[in-house]
Amino acid sequence: MNPFKKAVVHNFLRAFLPALTHAHQYTISHQLAVSSIGIAYTHLLEAIGEDRALPLLFIDDRVVINREPLEDSVYISRFINFFKSRGIQHLRIHQGITLEELTSFIETLTVSPKPSIDNTLFPHIQFGKVGLGYKTNEEADGGVVDEPVKSETGMAEEKRAVDVEKQGILQTAHHFKTIHTQDLDLMADVYDAAKRNHDLPDREIKRVVTDIITAIKQGSSMLLTFSPLRVLDEYTFTHSTNVCILTLAQAMALKIKDELLHAIGVAAMLHDIGKIFIPEEVLNKQGALNDTEWELIKRHPQKGAEYLIDKPGIPPLAIIVAYEHHMFYDYTGYPKVSNNWQQNICSQMATISDYFDALRSKRIYRDSMEIEIITEQMTNMSGKTLNPFLTKNFLLLLNKLMQGLEI
Ligand SMILES: [Fe+2]
Ligand SMILES: [Fe+2]
Repeated sequence: MNPFKKAVVHNFLRAFLPALTHAHQYTISHQLAVSSIGIAYTHLLEAIGEDRALPLLFIDDRVVINREPLEDSVYISRFINFFKSRGIQHLRIHQGITLEELTSFIETLTVSPKPSIDNTLFPHIQFGKVGLGYKTNEEADGGVVDEPVKSETGMAEEKRAVDVEKQGILQTAHHFKTIHTQDLDLMADVYDAAKRNHDLPDREIKRVVTDIITAIKQGSSMLLTFSPLRVLDEYTFTHSTNVCILTLAQAMALKIKDELLHAIGVAAMLHDIGKIFIPEEVLNKQGALNDTEWELIKRHPQKGAEYLIDKPGIPPLAIIVAYEHHMFYDYTGYPKVSNNWQQNICSQMATISDYFDALRSKRIYRDSMEIEIITEQMTNMSGKTLNPFLTKNFLLLLNKLMQGLEI
């Protein structure tokens, strides 16, 4: 990132804080709020510049843009705390955002108690959260931009909201740190290489899979640490990495080991590799896809399998999983196959992880509700699109994670 870009992003973050604070302390139509949001908006347009979007990712206490952390400053940590306390750990603001959209986003964020936000209400803003939706103690406590003047009732409500969230807290904070950010960088490079020259560095993929297996063995609660990066590029490595972690966790719960376990990890990591052949504007399209675009998307299992078939060092299982992961247990998905086709159980595991990760990225709910809704939906799909035995295994796994137990 060039120094000019860094400076304008810093200016935006600095200007965004008073906008949040004023909207939080007063009302969105208060003169102070209106004026500070206007200033923040001007800086935001400058920060987006000619780019398609401004992607902000919050890792620990840092804001990371395109894998480059910004220098620390007091306002950056307050900015991060504000968003993390609302369960938001990445934010991507797209070219074309209007002042009205930014104002309404800020209004939604600053209502008290903490909001449940529909991700689809803001066409130019994408955001999401890390992990299974459980916060660390620090995160649950943090998050007010400037300590606002509140009525006693307001404070009691806020406190109740925090207490409710704390009841569901996993003891995960420190396990999360065990995931190597180098692995993320490595996978990002793997996907970049695949996209640019269709190269597939199998040694790097295997290293990441081995690291993930080790991390799961050491402390099970590290699952999904990778999720926030999804926003950097909807179709690339982050979703795949989540699916890899979840599928490995399923396999390990079934006592699968050694070579097969590694093959499952590689296969899950590469399940969506066929998407490198789909135009980015289709993959990243905001809003509904038309028939032609949908047909293009549906080709990615076949494209992926064809791509992997002659790649040295890639286990044959990866070809199968790439081809079958949207087929579904009841064969109602795609691609369509002959009646006597036998799906591989590893593809069905990947389907479950894929489905879970898709649900997780849809909306930001209050945390406890989120797992409940997901569990309910997966239970409904069990025996239809999802393998019932594997779904049961997955939900047990989820339950154990929620209680902070070993997988
Ligand atoms: Fe897929
Ligand atoms: Fe997928």
